[in-house]
Amino acid sequence: MGGKKITKLAFALDVRTKDEAIKILDSIDQKIIIKIGYSLFIRYGKEITSYVKEKGFELFLDLKLHDIPNTVYNGVKSAIDLEADYLTVHALGGKDMLQKAVEAKQGSNLKLLAVTILTSHDNEYTQFLGSKYSLDQLALKLAKLSVETGIDGIVCSTEEVENLKKNIDKQFIAVVPGIRFTQDNKDDQTRTATPVEAKKKGADIIVVGRPILNAEDRNKVINKILEQIK
Ligand code: C5P
Repeated sequence: MGGKKITKLAFALDVRTKDEAIKILDSIDQKIIIKIGYSLFIRYGKEITSYVKEKGFELFLDLKLHDIPNTVYNGVKSAIDLEADYLTVHALGGKDMLQKAVEAKQGSNLKLLAVTILTSHDNEYTQFLGSKYSLDQLALKLAKLSVETGIDGIVCSTEEVENLKKNIDKQFIAVVPGIRFTQDNKDDQTRTATPVEAKKKGADIIVVGRPILNAEDRNKVINKILEQIK
């Protein structure tokens, strides 16, 4: 966790139309990571992912795959065909599913990122699952299992990242959303951290959506973030 560690920026392109997405992609100067989620991918699929790659950005497909192992295997293969650089899967899919996902990406540059427990859940969720663990314990258990299985990274909050890095021996990419500048409103994020705080705690990639999306000058905000995390 030295000062020289590189932290990357992933911009969550959470818009609903291709026109809007293309206009934004055309206006961004820096070759950052672009995170594409359901809203664009379900409607436009390859049209939008190809555009991201043609423009020279890294492609982060946030599809949170969770299905039987063979189906996830095929999904990972398709993400490789789309030249995705990062793809999310659900750790709750279990060890066999994670193993098949890892098997599918062998020989490619794709990095698999596991989601543990979504931040929208609270302790009632572990009861719902019938788990004897607290939410934090379960998140750690799932993160450990993922990394040990060969998953490259974990999506986690700034609050979790230090603890995960301390408790997981193998290196992994910590991907941290919920980033705000202090003066920003939090939108629907309950716990937020600044880019500098997230980097200090060990974030390797920070995910930023609305603070860039809603800015008058997106490049200015992107450059400010990059300056802070370099
Ligand atoms: O607009 P904002 O910066 O809040 O966007 C954050 C992005 O990170 C969104 O695409 C959201 O779905 C994603 N994300 C999150 N919290 C998580 C996991 C993913 O905000 N725990």
